[in-house]
Amino acid sequence: MNCGTIGAGTVAEAIAAHLVAVGHPVILSNRRGPATLRDLVTRLGPLASAGTVAEAAAADLVFLAVGWAEVRDALAGLPPWHGRILVDTTNAIPAPAGLGAETASEFVAGQAPGARVVKAFDTLFARYIAADPRHPAGRQLLFYAGDDDGAKDTFHSIADEIGFAPVDAGTLREGGRLMQVGGPLSALHALKQD
Ligand SMILES: NC(=O)c1ccc[n+]([C@@H]2O[C@H](COP(=O)([O-])OP(=O)(O)OC[C@H]3O[C@@H](n4cnc5c(N)ncnc54)[C@H](OP(=O)(O)O)[C@@H]3O)[C@@H](O)[C@H]2O)c1
Repeated sequence: MNCGTIGAGTVAEAIAAHLVAVGHPVILSNRRGPATLRDLVTRLGPLASAGTVAEAAAADLVFLAVGWAEVRDALAGLPPWHGRILVDTTNAIPAPAGLGAETASEFVAGQAPGARVVKAFDTLFARYIAADPRHPAGRQLLFYAGDDDGAKDTFHSIADEIGFAPVDAGTLREGGRLMQVGGPLSALHALKQD
């Protein structure tokens, strides 16, 4: 599956490394432009390439991995999503004011109309995203949430393929609340003993 990342920092690199390792091409993008990503794509190997944010966002499975303060700008002005999947890895730090009952990932979904948003990876510290999720005692649990069952099924398959033990935490409202900063699944690092 064609993959893209919006953001090319610690989290995006960790996820991209897992994806290319099992054969998925990944276009990485950042704020400063593709020329700044040469070393990173060299490290990741031939399935990785650098592109603009719009090129990365055109992939079938797109990972949003920018700081919370950059979410709005990073998603602004992109071509229509037409149901492509956007995986929100962000943590809303500092906690945003004025969301009301809305969760952080519902806010993200509002910035990407037409995208099928899945929240994932935000609960894990970057070093546990980057590590091989297959530990001697079991696979790293990877919680995810979303409102579209098809998008969640696709994400579940990819997460399983790259070695995590994916766990559906529910909708962007209910699961998102459990997973976001301050929720009980945030920073919960656990292994599934298969
Ligand atoms: N680090 C962790 O342990 C961890 C774990 C789970 C989730 N998270 C969350 O994941 C997100 C990313 O964290 P990170 O540690 O990977 O951050 P990071 O290393 O600072 O990388 C942030 C990336 O976002 C890019 N960016 C910023 N504004 C952009 C824009 N308008 N358009 C496109 N790209 C833009 C930056 O590009 P430039 O370099 O060009 O500015 C950079 O590549 C954050 O929301 C964080 O809370 C972090």
